[in-house]
This record gives sequence, C-alpha cells and structure tokens, in this order.
Amino acid sequence: MKNYIQAAAWSIIEEGFDPALHQISESIFSLGNGHMGQRANFEETYSGESLSGNYVAGVYYPDKTRVGWWKNGYPEYFAKVLNSCNWMGLQFDFGGTLLDLHTAEVKSFRRELQMQKGYLQRNFVATIPSGSTVEVQSKRFFSMANDEIAALHYQLKATDFTGTLKLKAVVDGDVSNQDSNYDEKFWDEVGKSRTEKGTFLTLRTKKTGFEVITGVKTIVLLNGKPLELKSSEERNKYISEELAVELQAGDVLDIYKIVTNLSSQNYAAAELSARAEEVLHAATAAGFEKLLAEQAEAWALKWAEGDIQIEGDTSAQQAIRFNIFQLNQTYTGKDARLNIGPKGFTGEKYGGSTYWDTEAYCIPFYLSTANQEVAKNLLVYRYKHLEKAIENAQKLGFDKGAALYPMVTMNGEECHNEWEITFEEIHRNGAIAFAIYNYVRYTGDQDYLKQYGLEVLIGIARFWKQRVNWSEDKQQYVMLGVTGPNEYENNINNNWYTNTMAVWCLNYAMEATEIVRAEDPARLAELIEATGLNEAEEFAAWTKISAGMYLPEDKNLGIFLQQDGYLDKEQILVKDLPASQRPINQKWSWDRILRSGFIKQADVLQGMYFLEDQYDLDALRRNFDFYEARTVHESSLSPCVHSILAAKLNDGARAYEFYLRTARLDLDDYNNDTEDGLHITSMAGTWMSIVEGFAGMRVRNGQLLFRPFLPQEWQSFAFKIGFRGTQFSITIRAGEITIFNAGDQISNISIFDEVYQIPTGETVINYQAAAL
Ligand code: BGC
Repeated sequence: MKNYIQAAAWSIIEEGFDPALHQISESIFSLGNGHMGQRANFEETYSGESLSGNYVAGVYYPDKTRVGWWKNGYPEYFAKVLNSCNWMGLQFDFGGTLLDLHTAEVKSFRRELQMQKGYLQRNFVATIPSGSTVEVQSKRFFSMANDEIAALHYQLKATDFTGTLKLKAVVDGDVSNQDSNYDEKFWDEVGKSRTEKGTFLTLRTKKTGFEVITGVKTIVLLNGKPLELKSSEERNKYISEELAVELQAGDVLDIYKIVTNLSSQNYAAAELSARAEEVLHAATAAGFEKLLAEQAEAWALKWAEGDIQIEGDTSAQQAIRFNIFQLNQTYTGKDARLNIGPKGFTGEKYGGSTYWDTEAYCIPFYLSTANQEVAKNLLVYRYKHLEKAIENAQKLGFDKGAALYPMVTMNGEECHNEWEITFEEIHRNGAIAFAIYNYVRYTGDQDYLKQYGLEVLIGIARFWKQRVNWSEDKQQYVMLGVTGPNEYENNINNNWYTNTMAVWCLNYAMEATEIVRAEDPARLAELIEATGLNEAEEFAAWTKISAGMYLPEDKNLGIFLQQDGYLDKEQILVKDLPASQRPINQKWSWDRILRSGFIKQADVLQGMYFLEDQYDLDALRRNFDFYEARTVHESSLSPCVHSILAAKLNDGARAYEFYLRTARLDLDDYNNDTEDGLHITSMAGTWMSIVEGFAGMRVRNGQLLFRPFLPQEWQSFAFKIGFRGTQFSITIRAGEITIFNAGDQISNISIFDEVYQIPTGETVINYQAAAL
C-alpha cells in the first residue's frame, strides 16, 4: 500500500518525482474520453521504466494464444486492445544533452489530474546533466466535447541556457504491446504525410485490418512568436518535425499539439485522410484554450449528473470523484459496439476485453448517472453478440439456439484461454440476463424486452436447460464442472450461485415472455418464429428444472453451500492467515490455493446481493458471517458487494471498512498492482457501495427507495440520481435524509418504507437516518 497522493477534493496530486512510483502514476493520471485514451506518460524523452500506452476503443488484435497442450474447443486467440500511435513525443536537445527526467536532477515536480475540468497538468524544474535548468508546465486532455480530439500545451522556459535547442515533435506508431504473446508488432503502415494542416500517420492492424489515422498539428512559439517546423526523420510507422532555435536564458517556448485519432470503425478507410484533415483543421482553428473551455463545460455536465459530495473527509471525497471520473473517461455510451475493459484505457492487462464485470457491476452506475441510452447500449452490445454466443455454445456441443456468452470477448467470440475461466465460468450468462432485468426494473423500458431482451433471455435459458442434468441419486437437477465467481475453486459441482442464477434466468425468461405477450402479441409471434421457441415443451422443461434444481445448503449452519463438498475443506479463517501469506495469489502455489477454503471474491454473497428479495435478514447475516470470514477479497470486485450487504445488516463500521478497500484501491495501490492499470470496473462497485450501501437505494415497484445511514467518519454525503426522466438530489446528514426533486414531474419515493410524493422543485426530509 502506498500513500503518496495528496488529498484534494477535485484533484489527484503528486508532489515530487519518485521514479519507483512513476508507472503507478502513469496509470493513476490516465486520460480518456470513451473513444480513446492514454496512460500518463511524459511528453519529453524518458529513459527510465515506463509503460507507454495509447489506446483507441474497439481497435484490437487477435493475438495467437499460448497454451501448453492444445485441446478441442480452445479459443484460438486472446484479443487485445492495441497500444497505438503515440502522438505526444517531444525531444529537446540542448546542445547535445537531452531533457530526460531519468538523467536530470529534478528540483521540483508536481502532477495534478484536475477532475472537475478534465485535464492533466505537470510542472517541473530540472537540471539536465550539462548543467542547464529548465522549467516546464504541460497541460493535456482528451476532449469529452468532441471525442475525436485531444490537445497538449507544453511550455518550457530555458532558465539559464544560451545556445541552440533542437526540438523534435514526434508521431510514433512503431509501438508494441507489452503483453504481446510472441513479441509481434501488430501494426503496419498504410501511409504518412505532412501538409499545412498537420502530420498524418495511418496504420493498419494485422489480421483485423482496422485502420487508424493519427493527425497532429504542432505549433511552436518562441516568446509568443511563431516558429516554423520542418519536416524531419521519416521511417516506417514514424514521422516527425523539427526545428533548431537559438535560445537566450529566460526564453519561453510554447508548444501546442492538437490531435485527432480516427478509425475505420467510424469512417470508410478511403475517407480517413480527408476526414482527419478536416477535424484537425477545425480543432486547430478553435485553438487550445477554446478546446479546453469546451472540455470544462462537457465535464461540468457530467458532474452535474453524477457527482457525489462528501463532507468531512477530503480523502474519501477525492477517492469517489476519482472513481466517477475514470468511469466517465472509459465509457460514454455513445457507441453500442464498445464496452468497458476492466482496465479501460489505463493499461494492457485483461486485453481491454469485455468481462461479466460490465453487467454485474457497471450497469447500475451508468443507469443512475447518465442518460438511459448509455446503459441500454451496454445491453445492446450483448444483443448484437447473440449469434456468436449461440455459435460459442455450439462449439461446446450445445444446440437448438442455446447461447453461452463468452467470459472474455472483443467481438462476441470467446477469447480467453484458461479453461477454468473460458469453459467453466458459465455464470456470466446469469449476469447478462440479470442486467436486462436490472435495466428494465430501473427504467421501466419494457420495450427493451420486446426489441432485444427476450431473444437473449431465450438463448440463455436454453443453455441452462441443456447444461444441467438429472441426478438419479439426488432426484434433482445438478450442474457439474463449473467455476463460480470465486476463481479459487475450479471444476466444482453445484456452485450455489451458478445454480441459483440459472433457476432465476429460466423463470425470468418465462416472465419476460408473458410481459411481451401482454404488451405486443404480434412481436411475440415474431420472436417465436425467429427463435423457433416451442413454448409448451420448452417452458414445461424450464419449469421442471427451476422447481427441481439442487441448491446446496447446510441446514445445521443455516447457510447456502458455495459448492458440493465445501465443508470438507479445512475451515481456516482469514483472520488466522498471517499477513506474510497474503495475497495468497502471489504467495501460494495454485495447487495450494485450490485446496484451501479461501474465497477470492463474493460468490454466494454475490447471489444474495442480486436476488436479495428472496432472502430474509437472518439468512443474509448467517451467510455473510460465514463467507466474509473466509473471503480474501483478492478480486477488486469483491469488497463492494460485502460493503453493500454489511450496510443492509446495519453494520455501518464494516460497510465503511469494505468501502475504503474499494474506494482508494488504485490511489493507494492497495493490491500492489496499480502500475498495470486501474481497476475500472470495480470503481463502479465503489459507487454502488455509497449509493446502494450507505444510502440504501433500491428500486421497488417502479419507485426509488432509500434506507440511509451516515458513516461516522463523514459529516454528510450527497449525490444525484437520474430516474425515469427525473432527477433527485439526495443529501444524508446525521439523523436526516433530504431529497429534492430537480426534475419536471411529480414523483413518489420511499424512505424507510414511508412513501413521499415530491412535487417538482420541492424537498422532503426524513429524520430516521442513523449515524453508524
Ligand atoms: C475476477 C473476475 C473478473 C476479472 C476481470 C478477475 O480477477 O476474478 O471476476 O471478471 O478479474 O475484472
């Protein structure tokens, strides 16, 4: 755990340069705008350890997989979002000595991620080995107002240097992925050019054939007067411009780079050049300051919808804003072909692919803080992959329209190669169905079921029907050979969570059919035709399985059993696990982990969280106490679920403790892995811990319900929620919750089971919120 980020309500601040922390900071200070993003690499040369990363959403490469012993059905590739053209590079050569913070003496250094306005700023003073000192200020951002644009302003003052400075402005596409399986480079050059509008480099991905053009207009001013750049070195996938200037001590250079990145996903390849020139020209004409002002306005809108304010704890305030900021930088919901990689644009781990994280953790955040279309697009993404999910199931021997969504995907195909995840974590199907339910429950948009949802649910239900088998011994249906959410158990039988979600899916598919029948029988007839659904036969089978599924439990302990035989394991508790042994995934052999009873992440409790209405508080408490004591939370997705459930059990202290583990996970490098990239999907869990945990927000019968408490460490917290066309401002103080209806329609909400009707522009106050 680190503690070097300074607390500030709207900013992430690092003072002083420590190369050992640099790669962590490169992740933390990352920028993005849903369409593209970047790690916080330095603009100038840096010869120290660094993970250079620039990414364009949806542009991936199917990297041939590496496995020890190939077996039928293994996915051929592991898709990766590609490290792409680095447009930032600036090289400063002061009479033969490069500006490089790895070799310079850094006198002062400060970076700040300004989250309210959406930019990254860095100031430093450094003395290079030849003895000259420079002062630098740089500011850059990825525009949220126009996601095809990014911009940089780099100001350098040569405090005491007199002589020739050679400046090179580089656009470098000769990059590779650190996690490439065979050290391959994934890009080929298509062309490059330098015109008065800028320098342009077009690259094409091998195999997938995506084309991306990067256009950069570089403007250099000496003491406010423009200098002319000349064409410089050109080599494969690389283009640069340069100039040489005589500097006097005290001279100031201002360098602007206005940038566009366009991909053939959005334009015909033949149009890319013309379009890039146009976009770049317009952005250059607007200029850095105007683009920056537009950026601030765009972020102001995001914050107006999604901010959470915490009074009395700056570090908690900073953390939640950081989580919200990064979620918005990663996914804006404009494009249903895109999704949320667990690391977003901040690193290469997980290949930028889509996991069950989106449905299980991210949907609630976008539902409440953005336009309904944003969450809907995440669902449509899976709808568009339905055919591939059916093919995926076919590859594994299922038929008749059964759909198994991939655990890890870029285009709908499974692209993960650990068999226990690829083949066995079939629980992802449950989360995908649950997200449809969650969306419809929240928005009331039943139309979604008609247009898209039901078809997905039918495919998923068919899969579960075929995946179970009848056990003569138990006289019940069982599900064998699975991995549940707890990845520290593989190839187990009857994972309670998976079996429970399967039953739920079968029932929900039938319920959704009735909803569509009632609303639009003609559409149902169409869907029956398209899917070949034999209602009589298939529903009878689904009902039978739902009624006859084996759900392991231990009556003595009064708990659901995570899987068959869980109690045969040695029941050691996490409190008795020495700190020196943790995290077990770094300290123990895989074999030892699998034999142990330690649980990586919420599993039974994940199910009790999703389907909470089915279980009373006593059952929840017994299961929580049992499983929490055995859970090591070595997935970042875990503590948020425990936080929400602890809040529900009125255990404010523990709810807060779990919340802290998720909220500052990356800022404090809690798991010693932030340098790989940020845990974007778990950031949505942090948001849930506050809104669903501390504020106790739920949707019941088309209405919002709150059961809040105030963590003792805070004076108050407040947030906004968009719900069915209206917006509520919620403030929780010790002993009271205030809800303001900022929308334009009268709305009902419940607080501790009391229903309030709030006219537009009015406030209600309830005095039962405890400080726990
Ligand atoms: C977790 C999975 C998750 C994945 C990506 C793993 O460590 O166990 O549940 O989908 O990370 O976030």
